Amino acid sequence: VSVERRLLCAGCLVLVLSCSLGAAGLPSPLAGKEAWDYVEVRPGAHMFWWLYYADSPSAQYQDLPLVMWLQGGPGGSGSGFGNFEEIGPLNRDLEPRKTSWVQAASVLFVDNPVGTGFSYAEQPDGFATNVSTVASDMLVLLKHFFTQIPEFQSKPFYIFSESYGGKMAAAISLELSKAIAKGSVKCNFAGVALGDSWISPLDSVMTWGPYLYTTSLLDNNGLADVNSAAENVKRAVEQQQFLKATELWSVTETVVEQNTNGVNFYNILTQQPDEKPTDVLFLSASALQARRHIRPLHKQSLNELMNGPIRKKLAIIPQNVTWGGQAEDVFSSMAGDFMRPVVDIVDQLLTAGVNVTVYNGQLDLIVDTMGQELWVKQLKWEGLPGFSQLRWSPLDDPASPGTTGAFFKTYRNFAFYWILKAGHMIPSDQGAMALQMLKMIMQQD
Ligand SMILES: *[C@@H]1O[C@H](CO)[C@@H](O)[C@H](O)[C@H]1NC(C)=O
Ligand SMILES: *[C@@H]1O[C@H](CO)[C@@H](O)[C@H](O)[C@H]1NC(C)=O
Ligand SMILES: *[C@@H]1O[C@H](CO)[C@@H](O)[C@H](O)[C@H]1NC(C)=O
Repeated sequence: VSVERRLLCAGCLVLVLSCSLGAAGLPSPLAGKEAWDYVEVRPGAHMFWWLYYADSPSAQYQDLPLVMWLQGGPGGSGSGFGNFEEIGPLNRDLEPRKTSWVQAASVLFVDNPVGTGFSYAEQPDGFATNVSTVASDMLVLLKHFFTQIPEFQSKPFYIFSESYGGKMAAAISLELSKAIAKGSVKCNFAGVALGDSWISPLDSVMTWGPYLYTTSLLDNNGLADVNSAAENVKRAVEQQQFLKATELWSVTETVVEQNTNGVNFYNILTQQPDEKPTDVLFLSASALQARRHIRPLHKQSLNELMNGPIRKKLAIIPQNVTWGGQAEDVFSSMAGDFMRPVVDIVDQLLTAGVNVTVYNGQLDLIVDTMGQELWVKQLKWEGLPGFSQLRWSPLDDPASPGTTGAFFKTYRNFAFYWILKAGHMIPSDQGAMALQMLKMIMQQD
């Protein structure tokens, strides 16, 4: 997509106090400040960020940390889905969200990688093809951000993520700690949290069968079919044929759908809406992958909001850039990287002393908790035996006092949260529990 560059508000920082009606007449009950901008991270590759300053009844934003939220996909938009469906101050109907993370921290949404959400590439070769490029792009963005708004350099900075966002968050965190050590980025990096993260894709795929079988979503015939499809993925990964592994991963998903009457990969207690399971047979591999993993993040109502009142309010989106318009390109450009594990990167983070939290939803299938446990056990980190010996502690569910909302344990710089009654999108499913976890990680509780 080539875009007229003169439309860009190069280097200009939009900062608004949106206490009454927003620029586009958007009914906005927000009392907090917001800012947003584009950064050209490579020639022709533009990334969009949107910051909400913390808006807490008990503290000034100056005294609260900064959280960056990274969505999955790759190609899912933090400024859209994460913001309006999960943790932002307003929900999709633009009503205040009770469990917004903005009451505990300033929240920075970045549409990442390039091509996601309002971010865009002018040329098809502008999309990232691996997490190294994703990380180096983000480092350019963060350097700009902390230079543009220097008061955030000293605030504790956390990266929170979901799904494929976790894989990117791990790679970004490692590059960020190196950059801070070299002095090329000024920021007070305090830790990374990997939510339902695609850290070890194979461990996820290999546990789909057992997980579905023990939750009465497969019979023994279905279990055999799913396991055999997963074995094919395993062979491709072992032979380092990662593009093929991505295709076979998609085939395995189809086998799951056929044997479960279309279970929802993001929450096993629900079913996929819209399509019948058989429809998928008529789609090409990439259309199929996009349908499954990009579309749930681009529901029609969110599309209308982002491409309607929100783009009007932001007023810096180039005329022919559509929110989500390049999402499928983002996904398919990363197809060769998709099934590669990044367990070694998490190991490097732990060894470097970075605070790492893993949190996972009990009802998530695509990144089930069984698979997360498996890769955690593969860590070479010297603290692992101590972590493994430790017993977990229950946490009360703030939304339903007297019932267990989660279990957690923390040993040295590693923590694990098992979030109950939540699927892949934990803040959507268990908003109060997610907010409580955020506060615990940031040591506000
Ligand atoms: C964006 O605008 C340019 C220049 O007007 C045009 O060449 C290009 O096709 C447009 N792209 C889209 C996606 O509309
Ligand atoms: C990532 O992609 C870039 C651009 O295509 C390439 O130059 C680089 O070698 C790749 N890095 C890795 C580790 O594969
Ligand atoms: C990491 O977490 C521990 C508490 O678990 C905290 O004491 C420490 O300050 C954190 N480290 C950083 C760099 O924030």
